[in-house]
Amino acid sequence: MGIQGEKTKAIFQKAKQFIPHGVNSNFRYWGDDDTLVVSRGEGTYIWDQDDRKYIDYRLGFGPVILGHAYPAVVKRVEEALKMGNVFAWTTPLEISVAERISRMCNADKVRLTNTGTEATFHALRIARAHTGREKFIKFEGQYHGMVDYFMYSTASSELGDLGPRENPVSGVTTKGIPQAIQDYVINLPFNDFEMLEETIEREWKDLAAIFIEPMLGNCASVMPKPGFHEKMRELCDKYGIVMVFDEVKTGFRIANGGAQEYFGIQADLVTYAKAMGNGFPIAAIAGKEEVMMTIQPGSMAHGGTYSGNVVGVAAADATLEILETQPVIETINQRGEALMKGIDDILTEAGIPHVVTGVPSMFGLFLGSDEEPYDFRDYLAGDGKLYEEISMELIKRGVQPDGDGREPWFLCYALSSDDVDETLNVFNDAVEAVKK
Ligand SMILES: Cc1ncc(COP(=O)(O)O)c(C=O)c1O
Repeated sequence: MGIQGEKTKAIFQKAKQFIPHGVNSNFRYWGDDDTLVVSRGEGTYIWDQDDRKYIDYRLGFGPVILGHAYPAVVKRVEEALKMGNVFAWTTPLEISVAERISRMCNADKVRLTNTGTEATFHALRIARAHTGREKFIKFEGQYHGMVDYFMYSTASSELGDLGPRENPVSGVTTKGIPQAIQDYVINLPFNDFEMLEETIEREWKDLAAIFIEPMLGNCASVMPKPGFHEKMRELCDKYGIVMVFDEVKTGFRIANGGAQEYFGIQADLVTYAKAMGNGFPIAAIAGKEEVMMTIQPGSMAHGGTYSGNVVGVAAADATLEILETQPVIETINQRGEALMKGIDDILTEAGIPHVVTGVPSMFGLFLGSDEEPYDFRDYLAGDGKLYEEISMELIKRGVQPDGDGREPWFLCYALSSDDVDETLNVFNDAVEAVKK
């Protein structure tokens, strides 16, 4: 039995009639009986077409940092919209958002765009133009959006795509990418200091950038080993490589200043999206003056009709203001710590080997072993099937994490301590149901 109720099932059939597989992103397709159609969201809750209510820990894959339909954000967008939406000129709202990002994230310059994919795509081009080099390093299990160059050894890859650990290959994640693109990307296991150093020493003359999700936000929030970012910073400085933090998931979520603040490290370029607009389409590329000023009218392109569009920018202005003036992350962290501890206790009690990974605002559950995972290959050696079974039991009972253990549990400001208690009760029942 799937998780769709009768009405959801019926409307999903209609969705399939007009939309390939009934979804506008493949990541949303869970199969014909398990793909939901949502009618609305408010605060930490969403409701499906059968009016079933869920405590939402997916939060649209992470962007909803405050809560669904958060009144202060909606109001700012409504007010701004009355003035028109797109002008192909700079607006004061754009300046306000860029100034906030500059202050919160210690960035010299900021360019706005609309999605994480656009932000990483432009960051790669800037890094290439800045260095005059073409290749880049990324890490296995990291996802940097739908750009051809990044679609190798992502979190959607199978172990067999990655090659031997000591000699990794870049496994393509999708059909439709020209073979030659593979020559530009090097995928390495996360947290491998030696392989990183060896690779950079061998390849640095061709290396424009290292792209890193500062923690594996697309693989159960696996954390960096102490010193890994520092090592990368040192090597990037030594060899003139642009260090790019992809903070599409961690930005404005794990700290107001994102992973740079959390881990105490400064990248050269940073990409933001998701939480910066509480779910509205808005993203940014931010960074050091000398790298950002590679953007030059006439010689180094960055553009987009909707870059700086009023809807996204107004949402970001309101969201960032709330982050700066209210204890958003602090509150989320308290709730997240209680959840992480409660889940840890329940799994221990149930005798299920596990590690609770990540940070309170976006944590992961690694099942099947008590050994901390340090990279994507470690994660794949765990029990993803058991995770999926538990998550399906949770969803049937009104608590909705993602069905895939690679996607972290995301928390928002609207989540109350009662919601946490309810989640833990449901988690206990779900584990018992699976054990039976
Ligand atoms: C780390 C990271 N970078 C980039 C992206 C792409 O962002 P978008 O889906 O907004 O294009 C994602 C999406 O999940 C992401 O997690």
